[in-house]
Amino acid sequence: MDAIEVIKTRRSIRSYEEKPVPKEILEDLIDCARLAPSGVNVQPCDFIVITDAETRLKIAEIADYGKFIAQAGACILVCAKRTKYYLEDGSAATQNILLAAKAHGLGSCWVAGDKKEYARKILDLVGAPDDYLLVSNIAVGYAAEEHHPRKRSLEEVIHWEKF
Ligand SMILES: Cc1cc2nc3c(=O)[nH]c(=O)nc-3n(C[C@H](O)[C@H](O)[C@H](O)COP(=O)(O)O)c2cc1C
Repeated sequence: MDAIEVIKTRRSIRSYEEKPVPKEILEDLIDCARLAPSGVNVQPCDFIVITDAETRLKIAEIADYGKFIAQAGACILVCAKRTKYYLEDGSAATQNILLAAKAHGLGSCWVAGDKKEYARKILDLVGAPDDYLLVSNIAVGYAAEEHHPRKRSLEEVIHWEKF
């Protein structure tokens, strides 16, 4: 699958087969994440890969709209030091993970981290230092559903030269 097809076919997956994701693939997802663009190239992000079922269940219980994390093969926490562009940097890294997962034949879903009151609770659960923020909490695994959310059309969103 080429990059354009990966981008155009990725969708959030919220139902997973209870099947582990190979370690080499998880490692490659983080390799893709670390190569994302970063404001002033500060690279404030660290990535916590969680495969342990008990920890995933605890995270699923905390994340109000992320219950499916308990079912997915893995969950990746994208956390970042509080820098000027931490949210942009963490979001770019998150998107790289979602796309790399698709390229590896996996489903994924971005579960909110930043701005959620529960963010610190999840970081504490995995022992992240106090000066780190949770940007996202990504479910990754083998998809057990297809999803086709409505997308605004190209004609609706494109503007040439002026709004
Ligand atoms: C910042 C952000 C936070 C999100 N948080 C959640 C979440 O907590 N739970 C969830 O199921 N989906 C979450 N999503 C996924 C969106 O619901 C999803 O991207 C949107 O519905 C469009 O669907 P698509 O990803 O299949 O294109 C989040 C996405 C973003 C960008």
